[in-house]
Amino acid sequence: MNDRFLRACRREPVDRTPVWFMRQAGRYMAEYRALRAKHSMLTLCRTPELAVEVTLQPVKALGIDAAILFSDLLLPLAPMGIPFDFQSGEGPVIEKPVRSAADVAALHRFEPRQDLGMVLESIKMLRKELQIPLIGFAGAPFTLASYAIEGGHSSHFALTKSLMYEDPATWHKLAGLFAEIVADYLQAQVEAGCQALQVFDSWVGALDEADYREFCLPHTKRIFDALATTGVPTIHFGTGTGHLLAAQREAGGDVIGVDWRTPLDEGWNRIGADRAVQGNLDPTLLFAPRERLLARVDDVLSRARSRDGHVFNLGHGILPGTPVENVKAVVEHVHAVTAR
Ligand code: CP3
Repeated sequence: MNDRFLRACRREPVDRTPVWFMRQAGRYMAEYRALRAKHSMLTLCRTPELAVEVTLQPVKALGIDAAILFSDLLLPLAPMGIPFDFQSGEGPVIEKPVRSAADVAALHRFEPRQDLGMVLESIKMLRKELQIPLIGFAGAPFTLASYAIEGGHSSHFALTKSLMYEDPATWHKLAGLFAEIVADYLQAQVEAGCQALQVFDSWVGALDEADYREFCLPHTKRIFDALATTGVPTIHFGTGTGHLLAAQREAGGDVIGVDWRTPLDEGWNRIGADRAVQGNLDPTLLFAPRERLLARVDDVLSRARSRDGHVFNLGHGILPGTPVENVKAVVEHVHAVTAR
């Protein structure tokens, strides 16, 4: 069992800096596209044999130090009363967005061990196959609420922020419901076998610190507080969050994600030396000539200065069209130059 990823999460010494990638399974891989040609995105997520196969594709191809369950952030929306689908070229589309107090009142908790049992089954099957740790995940309240309210992807989050400002009580009810559901779902993922958890607050960087503290921090904190008893390391991830890192750290997470807009050393200073960090190569550098790509990998590593508690990753997910050989070269390079 290769445990350097778990050791880094706990800020223990490692033989090499561990590396994995957000969206390491996906359209940039031919094996993934071949399966997607036959099955919808939701079928891949909801069929354990297929979810297992997709999860293992990058593990076999890349030599990474952690696997992330193939699933999607939005799966919990349907059983709480927010049906959605993925439409080609558009991303997720929520059938009936949540916009009013009455809409929020109609939502409900559910039992993830039943309604998302297929995800938990995938986890159980994966643990039998893997020699590296398995990461489970879910969305943070802001990021989930933004999809539920906007109805899909958004650039400005105007409807989400309007609900916060105009009807804070309804916002807090919705965010609180997401916090309860996500905490329960993540606990169920650990019961099924996940050895680490990542909470994606991908879009929370759209808020200033005051709004983050008022509208999000208490809800996200409730999730991390609930996960403390599981004993598995937790990762708290966002993008565009250079100004929020200290507040995110307060909300929780053994490891805090830093995206490429903030130099890793500067981000780590804002977070504090008593937490691990994950990041932070710009995903578009994977399209760059090899020399520039590896020079920028070296820059990230030099900013980590071999301190215990660095998990190498991108600042966000691998983009469609990324050359697989460049991803593989990054894994090999990180392992080669960080051998202790
Ligand atoms: O990282 C991994 O390899 C695990 C799998 C994973 C997916 N989605 C697969 C996926 C994870 C961790 C997610 C999380 C997720 N889903 C997030 C947070 C992560 C982030 O990027 O910040 C968000 C915001 C979503 C919602 C979502 N799912 C969107 C906006 C889209 C459409 C965008 C796109 O790339 O088409 C998806 C679809 C999706 N989720 C795909 C994959 C591989 C593409 C599906 C396809 O067409 O094959």
